[in-house]
Amino acid sequence: MNIPARPEPLTDIREWQDLKEYAQELRATSLRTLFSEQPGRAQDLSFEVGPLYVDLSKHLIDERAMRLLVDVARGMNLEDYRAAMFSGQRINTTEQRSVLHTALRLPADQDFTLEGQGNDGGDQDVAADVHGVLGRMRDLARSLRNGNWQGISGHTIKHVVNIGIGGSDLGPAMAAQALRPYQTAGITPHFISNVDPSDLDGTLDGLDPESTLFVVASKTFTTSETLANAHAAKRWLVKELSEKGVDATSEAKVREITERHFVAVSTNKEKVQEFGIDPKNMFEFWDWVGGRYSVDSAIGLSLMAAIGPEDFMRFLEGMYEVDDHFRTEPMEYNVPVLMGMLGVWYTDVMGAESHAVLPYCQDMEQFPAYLQQLSMESNGKSVRLDGSPVAVPTGEIYWGEPGTNGQHAFFQLLHQGTHLVPADFIGFVNPHTDLLGADGETSMHDMLMSNFFAQSRVLAFGKTAEELREEGVAEELIPHKTMPGNRPSTTILADKLTPKTLGALIALYEHIVFVQGVMWGINSFDQWGVELGKKQANELLPAVRGQQRSDAGDGSTDSLISLYRKLRN
Ligand code: F6P
Repeated sequence: MNIPARPEPLTDIREWQDLKEYAQELRATSLRTLFSEQPGRAQDLSFEVGPLYVDLSKHLIDERAMRLLVDVARGMNLEDYRAAMFSGQRINTTEQRSVLHTALRLPADQDFTLEGQGNDGGDQDVAADVHGVLGRMRDLARSLRNGNWQGISGHTIKHVVNIGIGGSDLGPAMAAQALRPYQTAGITPHFISNVDPSDLDGTLDGLDPESTLFVVASKTFTTSETLANAHAAKRWLVKELSEKGVDATSEAKVREITERHFVAVSTNKEKVQEFGIDPKNMFEFWDWVGGRYSVDSAIGLSLMAAIGPEDFMRFLEGMYEVDDHFRTEPMEYNVPVLMGMLGVWYTDVMGAESHAVLPYCQDMEQFPAYLQQLSMESNGKSVRLDGSPVAVPTGEIYWGEPGTNGQHAFFQLLHQGTHLVPADFIGFVNPHTDLLGADGETSMHDMLMSNFFAQSRVLAFGKTAEELREEGVAEELIPHKTMPGNRPSTTILADKLTPKTLGALIALYEHIVFVQGVMWGINSFDQWGVELGKKQANELLPAVRGQQRSDAGDGSTDSLISLYRKLRN
């Protein structure tokens, strides 16, 4: 199968014109009217995907608009692109790479071969390679958890420190926090990402070097932040161990220490060896796994060590269920398709500039940040696949905080501000822990969830001036207290935040981002925009260090660097 024919830009297809025309009509209506005209609306617009129940009824659409959105998706060849991704076509055209994160969660009994992408130029048995690495990860995780792996002085490992950045950090860090209740074997995961030395300093402060293992996670093993942190961690380890009487006086001894306290996750064997990590402790992945799509690859090693191999496999299972749904479900009931198209609807028709993600779950605190990389590194593009400029805004800007904290911070703008911000409410029926509230009787989880239900209700239906008058509100306060409503949201509800549920949520958003990339006709899988900043940081470093005069020549940078040098002590 070949990469599908490149369709016209979104704005040129007939289906888009039909949708835009209908949008004019729809703008005149409200969620109150839509609900009153369609009594079964909540049921009609609710769907199941794997363990997730997704209610789309509070969106500014009706059945016709939904049909038109699906027509647009078809008009842009979404089904063909989806097939091209799942079958391993090189849809990352600027890097000539396949995009196969979905192969990372294929069950062990499924075959998948990729033509011409084996190490020797032959075919790659993807399923065998994926499960081979998973098996090695399982072995390491088990030996850490049962105490067979010991540090240089015979101590078992209690702390696993992942050193990586971007996709080599955000996924495992987010998932480890979200799955905190599953960390039952006494292995605590830690994450160092920033080249700001306070990140490493703050994380390692108080850690026992004898029971610490570092996982250096870098697809390329050339990322400067990660290499700086990995080398600094090695120096910390050697110094701390020496203070505890471990012999680190020769190169051979340092190598031995490194081998016992460092493993790597990478595609770059040579660089891993150069760092001093034993290649048998390198966990491989492949160039068809994008960094921001890699939490389910060996990049998830620190997560697996913390939650255990069985739960890691359940995490993959949740992803697979959503992959299967996305691959096979008709577009009309296909949740990632519908949610992706709603994002396009708000971004390109209704004028929304951002998208709030509101997990009513403290353990999912890092989920919005995770989605930022997923969406913004993938779809923050201004040119189409053929290099021509895009015709509409692209790339959803995700942001958010857990409820109820967000309610006391930015929700005011969501309720009464002038921006249209579609929001995703994510909640769970059963908590891992519950406590009683102020009255000693009410479940705090029920309190949390009553906020969850109330917020999307107020956003959708608001409060009118008449209703306020009926309640006896003073006339001069009516404009201030009127709640416009008509503010769209998705509600995602699941039984419990389990590894499987989290896997399903991640895969859901991965496919939403994919759908949108196809609509915008862009390459969602490269990230050229971040490269120039990295290059210029390297070029400016000698001047920043005071080794030479700054010659950036742009009028601002040179004077800022010279001020920096003057004040730097
Ligand atoms: O920020 C750019 C980026 O290339 C991301 O795409 C990637 O996840 C991150 O850097 C880390 O890259 P690596 O895993 O190669 O260190």
